[in-house]
Amino acid sequence: MSTSDPRPAIAVLCSGGGSNLQALIDRTATGELPARIAWVLSNNGGAGALERARTAGIPAYHVSGKTEGSPEAAEARLISLIREHGIRVLVLAGYMKALPTSVIRELPGRVVNIHPALLPAFGGRGMYGHHVHEAVLARGAQWTGVTIHLLSEAYDEGPILRQRVVAVRPGDTPESLGARVLVVEHDTLWREIRSLLERT
Ligand code: GRF
Repeated sequence: MSTSDPRPAIAVLCSGGGSNLQALIDRTATGELPARIAWVLSNNGGAGALERARTAGIPAYHVSGKTEGSPEAAEARLISLIREHGIRVLVLAGYMKALPTSVIRELPGRVVNIHPALLPAFGGRGMYGHHVHEAVLARGAQWTGVTIHLLSEAYDEGPILRQRVVAVRPGDTPESLGARVLVVEHDTLWREIRSLLERT
């Protein structure tokens, strides 16, 4: 895929509403994140993230084991999209599927995930979306936050790039806490992608 755009290409995998994707779209538009989003891919054809991509004129792909006929075919499609567009950094922003190790090997040290808690706390199986904030509150944690990390083949255990802390407030609900964490997510992910692009 040839393009005259000199900015490094990134791609974003989402399964949900895509507010983190939107933050990346906005920051590439202002130039604060000197990169272009070559495509957005979701395993969920109805994902709001795909709508956001289309609205921004970014190619939006619905790719899953179902759409491609098998998980292996979906994996091959993802790899070919990465190669075709010369993706420098792959960003998981609310992507609910396990990423095949072949993809992590394709982009060593350049697959980034964002998690709405301070890993290793409140991570791992079942810890996504509001479940994370429910667990933080149920445990009585006084602090939570955002983790940006590289994906290793052991998934949530890749090297941590950045963490930012968010205080838990008396009376917080999973919704109120999640909303405050999300604001920090939106301000953090693009900065770590920029730094990663600068040093890779
Ligand atoms: C975010 O909280 C992110 O940390 C987690 O999934 C959520 C995605 O939200 N991995 P959105 O689709 O970006 O709004």
